[in-house]
Amino acid sequence: MKKVGIIGVGKCLPKKVLTNADLAKMVDTSDEWIITRTGIKERRLVAKNEATSDLAAGAAKMALENACLEPVDIDLIIVATVTPDMSFPSAACFLQNSIGAKNAVCFDVSAACAGFVYAISIAQQFITSGAYKNALVVGAEVLSGVTDWKDRNTCVLFGDGAGAVVLSEVKSGGILSIYLGSDGSKADLLKISAGGSRHPASHETVDNRLHYIKMQGNELFKIAVTTMSHAAQTVLKNAGLECKDVDLVIPHQANLRIIMTMAKKLGLSMEKVYLNIERYGNMSSASTAVALCEAVNEGRVKRGDIILLDTFGAGLVWGACVIKW
Ligand code: COA
Repeated sequence: MKKVGIIGVGKCLPKKVLTNADLAKMVDTSDEWIITRTGIKERRLVAKNEATSDLAAGAAKMALENACLEPVDIDLIIVATVTPDMSFPSAACFLQNSIGAKNAVCFDVSAACAGFVYAISIAQQFITSGAYKNALVVGAEVLSGVTDWKDRNTCVLFGDGAGAVVLSEVKSGGILSIYLGSDGSKADLLKISAGGSRHPASHETVDNRLHYIKMQGNELFKIAVTTMSHAAQTVLKNAGLECKDVDLVIPHQANLRIIMTMAKKLGLSMEKVYLNIERYGNMSSASTAVALCEAVNEGRVKRGDIILLDTFGAGLVWGACVIKW
C-alpha cells in the first residue's frame, strides 16, 4: 500500500491581537480568570475585509513553498472549516482561485475542531487509491464572526487563523493510523442554531443572537478529556504503538486544563505536548494545523519522530492521527 505523508506545512494568522485586558473592557471578566481557567492570553482577529479563504490562501502558499510545489501541481484541495466565506461556493473554491491551483478538485469539510484530521483522512484515501497525487489540506476559521462579543462564557475562548499541509506519496514514514468518531446525540452542547435550514436568518434569529456560538462548556470539558484520551489510545494501538513511543502530541487547543488532564490520564509528560493556546485561543479546525506548522518550524519535529494529532469538537466529533515524520 502507498505511504502518504506531509511534505509541506504553512500557517497564516491575522495581524490584529486581542488581549485578555482588551476583553476585560468589553465583558465582565479578567486576565486572571481567563489565564487560570483556559490558559489563553491573547488571540488574533481578522480585519474587516479578511475572510476565511484569505487566511487559507496565506497558509496554503507557505505550505506549497515548503513542499517545493507550484499551485498547478495540486490536484485536490480540502478546506476544513465551520466558518466558510459564505454557505456556497466552498472556501476551497475561493482558495483555488486565489492561489491559481487550476488543476485541483475542491471542497470543504464540516467537522468543527476535528476537521483538520477528518480532511487529512480523506486526502490520504484519495492519494492511496491513486485518484489524486498532491493534496492541499487546510484548517481555516474566522470564529470572530460567529462569536457573541457580549457573552463572557464564550467570547474569551476563540480566535481566527489558518494552517495548511501538503500531502503526497512518501517513500518512508508518513501516516501510520487515523481514528475518527462522531456522536450526534450531543449536538446541543456546542452549536450555532440559526442561519441554516432549521432556522433561516430572520430578524427574530438576529434579535435572539442565534447566529453566535452557544456552548455548555462545563459538560464538554469532561467529555473532551475522556474522548481525546480514548482517541489517542485507540489510534496508537491501531498503529502498533504505545504512549511512550510518541515524541510529540499536538492536541486541539481548546483549554489548557483539558490538555493537562488528558496528558495526566495518558501518563504523558507535558514536555511532549505542543502548546500555542496562550497566543491564539481556540481556532477550531485551524488549531492543530497551525500548531503542527509551528512545531515543525521550531524544530520540535525531527525526521523519524512519532507525532500524534488529537482533536475534539462540535458534533460531537473527534479524530486522532499518528504520523512518522
Ligand atoms: N470571566 C469570568 N467569569 C466567567 C467567565 C469569564 N470569561 N466565563 C464564565 N465565568 C463564570 C461563570 O459565570 C461561572 O460563574 P458562577 O459560578 O457564578 O455561575 C463560573 O465562572 C464558572 O463557570 P464554568 O463554566 O463552570 O467555568 P469552567 O471552569 O468550566 O470554565 C470553560 C469554562 C468554557 C473555559 C471550560 O468549561 C471549557 O473550556 N470547556 C470546554 C470547551 C471545549 O472543550 N470545547 C469543545 C471543543 S471546541
